[in-house]
Parts: sequence; structure tokens; C-alpha cells
Amino acid sequence: MKFFLDTANIDEIKLAAATGLLDGVTTNPSLVAKEKRNFRAALKEICGIVNGPISAEVVSLDTKGMLKEAKDLAKIHENITIKLPMTWDGLKACRELYQEGVKTNLTLVFSPMQALLAAKAGATFVSPFVGRLDDVSTTGMDLIEQIVTIYENYGYSTEVLVASVRSPIHVLDAALIGAHVVTMPWGIFQQLVKHPLTDIGIDRFLKDWDKVKNLK
Ligand code: G3P
Repeated sequence: MKFFLDTANIDEIKLAAATGLLDGVTTNPSLVAKEKRNFRAALKEICGIVNGPISAEVVSLDTKGMLKEAKDLAKIHENITIKLPMTWDGLKACRELYQEGVKTNLTLVFSPMQALLAAKAGATFVSPFVGRLDDVSTTGMDLIEQIVTIYENYGYSTEVLVASVRSPIHVLDAALIGAHVVTMPWGIFQQLVKHPLTDIGIDRFLKDWDKVKNLK
């Protein structure tokens, strides 16, 4: 399973990359706005830290505008993955970028049919938003299960990138279902290693070791 960080914050990306377990980064206009800095400069810096797919989202709503932005963003680095909205225009742009060999990530996906369209359009990644579905009393993980089943039924190579992750349970459920990628905030990434019994166990080992370490 691949771990992506869902942030445009350089410090968080550096910390996650230092674990050796970071496979990529996803950004979106809201995450970039939080950092209050130039989008292209931030993307360039991220590409220098992480050697994996770095999603950069277009803001145009028409295919022509999306393709123009995509071509410009793709020039930043070969790892830039173009994030496109799940609309007919986004799908058309995805199809064209697929034919040109540019990696894409179809985002704001909330139904299995949208995910099927993304796969047919040749998307590299599809991003279903589990947390936002949970927010409206719909189990987001059911969608992941449906998409993984559909993709397996037809052997689509589009990778399921679980997004809008809000807790380690989302990561666990995604892993149990067999989703290819989870993108998560740095806070969730950090929580994955934590277990109180691990901390208690380390403390106990160290205390016991203190009792005998100076014995000759
Ligand atoms: O990857 C999409 C993500 O940034 C959205 O997360 O928490 O705003 O629903 P959230």
C-alpha cells in the first residue's frame, strides 16, 4: 500500500519523507491557500523532497483551460500528476492527457459510477473522498469497496487513492479492502505508529535494564 501526504506544507512533507515511508503527495487549492505562497514554487520544492507522484490541481472548469494548465504544471517536474475534477470536461481532459502519457488524478469522486468513468478515461489515480461522505451520514468506505471490486472485475490499472482521510481507522479499512493508496494529513500519518502498550513496554524494558546494566 502506498502512503501519500495530503498537504502542501513543506515542513510536514520533510518530516514524513524522513521516515522513508512516503510515496507521494497530494495538494489541492485549499491546501495550497493555507500555505500562503506561490503554487509553482511550492510544487517545485515538494518535487525536490519526494520522489513519487505529486498531485497538482487545475482550477479551470473547461477542458481547454484544464489542458493549458496541465501542460504548464507538467513542465515543473516529471512527477507532477494533474488533478482534474470529476466532470465531463475533466474526463475529456483526462482522456487527452492519458493519450499524451501525462499522469492524472480524478478528484472529488463520490460514486462508483464516477470512478468507473475515471478508469475508462485512463486516469492514473481516482480520488474518492471518504471523510466527506461520512460527514453526510454515508459510509465512505463502502464506496472504496465498490470501486475496488469494479476495477478488479475489469482489470483496470487506475489506482484507488483514498482521500479525505480523517482517522487511522480510515487507513486500516482502506488497507483491508486493498485500496492502492491512502493520502492523509501529517497528523494521521504520525498516529499510525502509536500504541499505548508500545510506550508502556519500552518504559518497562528501560526500567528493567537500568537495574542490571552496571552489573559486572
Ligand atoms: O484529499 C482530499 C482532501 O484534502 C479533502 O479532505 O478533510 O477537506 O475532506 P477534507
